[in-house]
Amino acid sequence: MKNIHPAIDRNFAMDLVRVTEAAAIASAQHAGKGDKELVDQAAVDAMRFILGSLSMDGIVVIGEGEKDEAPMLFNGELIGDKSGPQMDIAVDPIDGTTLLSKGLPGAIAVIALSERGAMNCPKEVMYVNKIAVGKEAKGHVDVNASANTNLKNIAKAKKKRISELTVVVLDRPRHDGLLEDIRTAGARIKLISDGDVAAGIHAAMANSGVDALMGIGGTPEGVIVAAAIRCIGGEIQCKAWPRNDDERDQAITGGADLNKVYTTEDLVAGEEVFFAATGASSGDLLRGVNFFANGAQTHSLAMRSRSATLRWIDTIHDFTRLDKTRYST
Ligand code: FBP
Repeated sequence: MKNIHPAIDRNFAMDLVRVTEAAAIASAQHAGKGDKELVDQAAVDAMRFILGSLSMDGIVVIGEGEKDEAPMLFNGELIGDKSGPQMDIAVDPIDGTTLLSKGLPGAIAVIALSERGAMNCPKEVMYVNKIAVGKEAKGHVDVNASANTNLKNIAKAKKKRISELTVVVLDRPRHDGLLEDIRTAGARIKLISDGDVAAGIHAAMANSGVDALMGIGGTPEGVIVAAAIRCIGGEIQCKAWPRNDDERDQAITGGADLNKVYTTEDLVAGEEVFFAATGASSGDLLRGVNFFANGAQTHSLAMRSRSATLRWIDTIHDFTRLDKTRYST
């Protein structure tokens, strides 16, 4: 039978970067206004505008928003003009909406693509326990093991002392025990108030100054980090973390396997994975949007798994020549 779906014949990361640039510019206009919804809505609208023009038959499978009922690109939303290949989309219009709404560093617009059916996670739960590392420590971590064991193994694999390792952890009361364990093991800690996508990517990058991401964060964010790691190399493991007995019971009724450890390839299985992120506010991974008269400069990362090409893209946007609707709310 004739295959009616066109093959993936180009680097979609180059399309995706236009999507994240638009989201970062639109949302960064609202930095510091103290309004998370406004930031998110601006990013969603800008993303949708550009996504609609792409040659693909896409569907959002990992959307974001249910957690806090934010404006969202919802799960099941169809994307593109239907003329291109069938793709799955994982998206977080802004990871770090609180950061951006407060004018704080580290908010990014982010999106990933892979073949239809490639993305998978314990959707029944909002949070997963995660561990992410770079290439050197790949195969040496286990989300079920103690922080002490993981740190010993990471140190050995990276030929560093434990005291030379830095672990990034979301600053949440649920991590009090984890922080205690990391401190007892002797590693350094970098606490972040939000944004474990950028943190997970940073942990996977060589010589970033961060050796691992550990702890409990959003489930969609785990899939997005996995997509990035498929391009960079390294490893993420995620395991469902129900918040309470009700969520545990509902997840089990919904068919979730709460003991399953999702590997990088379980989370994003495709041969072809494309990823793009743009800084909305400056952070360790990406610089934020810099506005000037009638224009802006953005800083992005675009990646493809097949070639393992990482592109750092600096873009000047001239608002006098562009269709302004793409960047405004
Ligand atoms: P959003 O900005 O998309 O809401 O996510 C921010 C974030 O910090 C994620 O990076 C992280 O995975 C999740 O929230 C943690 O959830 P919570 O703030 O509920 O602990």
